[in-house]
Amino acid sequence: MKIEVNEIELNFDDQGEGIPLILLHGFPFDRNLWYDQVQALNDHCRVITPDLRGFGESKAPESPVSMSQYAADIITLMDLLKIEQAIVGGLSMGGYIALAIAEQYPERLLGLILSNTKATKDTAAQRQNRYNTSEKTNYDGTEFLVKDLLEKVLCEATLSEKPDVVEYTQQMMRRQSGEAVRSALAGMAERKDREFILSEIEVPVLVIAGKKDTLIPVFDSKMMVREMPHAHLEIIEDSGHLSNLEQPELYNKILLRFIQPFDS
Ligand code: MLT
Repeated sequence: MKIEVNEIELNFDDQGEGIPLILLHGFPFDRNLWYDQVQALNDHCRVITPDLRGFGESKAPESPVSMSQYAADIITLMDLLKIEQAIVGGLSMGGYIALAIAEQYPERLLGLILSNTKATKDTAAQRQNRYNTSEKTNYDGTEFLVKDLLEKVLCEATLSEKPDVVEYTQQMMRRQSGEAVRSALAGMAERKDREFILSEIEVPVLVIAGKKDTLIPVFDSKMMVREMPHAHLEIIEDSGHLSNLEQPELYNKILLRFIQPFDS
């Protein structure tokens, strides 16, 4: 489905009925990251999965996109769909955006899911690395990034034992345009630290970490949980950064357990 949001056309899927659950994908992916979750959960709640500005089928002019801008797009989408409050979940960059929503629009949240993500900003070295990567995509395209990221987002067991997941992940990354990649890299590089808002989050929070996630290690999830008054941590054993793709059955069970109390 396509809808005009803050002067761009935002594409999203909207399936099921009941409590709204909005799932925000990571970088450099699109709404298809959540395919398994939509199939498993749309009998239990209303699952909305947008392609973030520039990604998937949501096109946008190239310019740095801040986490606040992505967050504003989601809030406008909620307004247009007449959804006052939702459970908002995000994986990695999607989690950075979910935290921006928690900071700027706390009244729109029923609950929060922070998956394979962190609240801290980039170090100077990480920031520089993003700008170098961005620059390189201008003349080399994005294939080098796909190759580089594949081994970082999936754990060794997934890489060797689940060729369908490897292929799915690779294809999803290949579909993203250089414009989307550069816009998000700049937005992530300049994102602010949101550690300071954690203690103020009043809604229930589910934090999910992959035990073998080397991009955002379990340590970052534990740190967030310590700061938040109503947070619960789930660590998925045989998973790297893309826990929802690598261990979908377990991941879906964890989401369902979190969502069900909102429905009573
Ligand atoms: C993601 O999966 O969204 C990225 O790994 C986030 C990041 O690069 O910080």
